[in-house]
Amino acid sequence: MNLLEQTDQANIWHPFSPLAGNKPIAVKKAKGVYIHTMDGRKIMDAISSWWVNIHGHSHPRINKAIGRQAAKMEQVIFAGFTHKPAVDLSKTLKKLLPDSIGKIFFSDNGSTSVEVAIKLAIQYWYNQDKPRRKIIALEGAYHGDTFGSMSVAERNIFSAPFNDFLFEVAFIPFPQGDGQEAITKMKEIISDDTAAFIFEPLVQGAAGMQMYAPEVLDELIAIAKENETICIADEVMTGFGRTGKMFACDYLQNDPDIFCLSKGITGGYLPMGVTAVNQHIVEVFDVADRLKAFFHGHSYTANPMACAAANASMKLLLTKKCQEDIQRIEASHATYVEQFKPTDQVLEIRHRGTILAVELKAEDAGYTSSIKERIYDYFMERNLLLRPLGNVIYIIPPYVITNQELQKLYTAIDSFLIDLQNNH
Ligand SMILES: Cc1ncc(COP(=O)(O)O)c(C=O)c1O
Repeated sequence: MNLLEQTDQANIWHPFSPLAGNKPIAVKKAKGVYIHTMDGRKIMDAISSWWVNIHGHSHPRINKAIGRQAAKMEQVIFAGFTHKPAVDLSKTLKKLLPDSIGKIFFSDNGSTSVEVAIKLAIQYWYNQDKPRRKIIALEGAYHGDTFGSMSVAERNIFSAPFNDFLFEVAFIPFPQGDGQEAITKMKEIISDDTAAFIFEPLVQGAAGMQMYAPEVLDELIAIAKENETICIADEVMTGFGRTGKMFACDYLQNDPDIFCLSKGITGGYLPMGVTAVNQHIVEVFDVADRLKAFFHGHSYTANPMACAAANASMKLLLTKKCQEDIQRIEASHATYVEQFKPTDQVLEIRHRGTILAVELKAEDAGYTSSIKERIYDYFMERNLLLRPLGNVIYIIPPYVITNQELQKLYTAIDSFLIDLQNNH
């Protein structure tokens, strides 16, 4: 009997699964694009294990970097102390982010990177004795599972038990087409009481890989800037090449003031959140008054092993090979979309960089759409992990995926759609 069979799975509370009937698949190892299960299956991880694993699983270079770092120093307090892996990472990130970014703040995950951004934006106004109370967000937004990040996101079935405890946020419509509705609403509600405007740039991930135009976001940011409102780009999902450029904001003319980064930053190895902050915000905290400091810090802030993984991942990401892989995946998706023959059940096919999404028509459209399980099961029976967002099938692969593997995914999507058409 193997170790996992002896372990009592009943002890574990898995996320996003009903407790009754939850039968997680036991994984033995993961390598490259594949997850190898205890019962001998080899499953293609077409969603990079919740969008984190940009170079594939168990990459030798990242493995080595973590091993070397662990032998030197696994963890050290980051208040009053520092270390080279964090310094190196901050230098790399600063080179890639707009020149206006002054400092890099470390935390633990995507939600905390957003939490830090919101707190900084609020305290920025507080420190200047000009408190501003309003935050603007996009309808459909998802920014994480902590209270602050839930507050600045769409109220939905997941937030329902907590809605009464979340702080109020003003929402503008998701920017469809030329985004006029969103722009009009933004102009209507923004005021000198608006502390921040938060958005997932160009692609709303959890909402079902919903995509919108850089020109619209540029205009929204311009309106916010006229009001000196702090613009927070949540690049937790879109960062590190996902949209075809290093950051989705690289498609914009106007730079946001704060970037939230996580997921791909360590190559999907270790948890890490980064909040990159504009110098003009930093300066409001850089004062003699101790009470104006930013009192926020997590135990594992800038964990050296996570920084070492991130440095190795960033090195890989910046290689010509990896940049070419990103362009190759983007071109492959574009060709598939061009040749795609929609069936009656398809509402839309869309892509941006390495992200491809096929949205199905559904009366109960959304995360809990009843078609979700049928999609998941269809692909899992074929050893393809394509965990749909409700009625949206999507691919967000590790950059090492081959053209052949991409074709396998497209063919499987085509077959699923035909199957759906025939057995509707
Ligand atoms: C845009 C965005 N922000 C924040 C988060 C939260 O990140 P984490 O799950 O690491 O807390 C996610 C997670 O999917 C995300 O997509």
